[in-house]
Amino acid sequence: MTQGIFISFEGIDGAGKSSHIGALSRAFEAAGRVVTPTREPGGTALAESLRSLVLNQPMDAMTEALLVFAARRDHLKQCIEPALHRGEVVLCDRFTDATFAYQGGGRGFDWETLRWLEQLVQARDIGGTSVLCQPSLTLWFDLAPAIAAERLQQARTPDKFESESLDFFTRVRQGYVKRQEADPMRFARIEADQSREAVWNDVLTTVRTKAWLP
Ligand code: TYD
Repeated sequence: MTQGIFISFEGIDGAGKSSHIGALSRAFEAAGRVVTPTREPGGTALAESLRSLVLNQPMDAMTEALLVFAARRDHLKQCIEPALHRGEVVLCDRFTDATFAYQGGGRGFDWETLRWLEQLVQARDIGGTSVLCQPSLTLWFDLAPAIAAERLQQARTPDKFESESLDFFTRVRQGYVKRQEADPMRFARIEADQSREAVWNDVLTTVRTKAWLP
């Protein structure tokens, strides 16, 4: 049976990851794979309801962290794990690294508590061993926060996170750096300050290096 593949897309707001999710989805489909494109917070009816609370309501960092992990639990159980079990390719716009970056780095919420929640929510029992459900690959679109802020200014009306300060996004980026240093094999850093074509080329090369695409 075909092995499922789980890929997450990360980066600060404005880094430009979203357009590449559709392109990668089409590349996998052209290679004969079934793709489940999804996002966090979100991906199920319950998790999408939680998303709209997290993105629109003021709340403290712990409440945000608990809501994104509650959304993640439902998303994993209802969508991601079944899709991987069916051998599909799951392309997820953000996953747990975003919680460490935004709630941990950006908001300054306790890193160890986030690690504990990650274990609680993502561990599954495989043949008596506890295994953490994580992406096999995380494409991290890395961009200087000042450049991302310029890009965001030209875009649509900002949501709660997009309205945050440059300092906030500098801390979010540091959060991603810390996660990458803790798990360098899973992360591929994509230099996002290039043309869209050059970024896409890096995405494709990274995925081909894993032998997931011809
Ligand atoms: P985003 O993925 O950028 O979607 P869109 O392109 O529609 O704006 O928006 C999701 C926001 O949620 C983003 O600002 C980061 C934030 N977020 C968290 O704060 N914690 C999390 O755990 C996740 C998954 C996202």
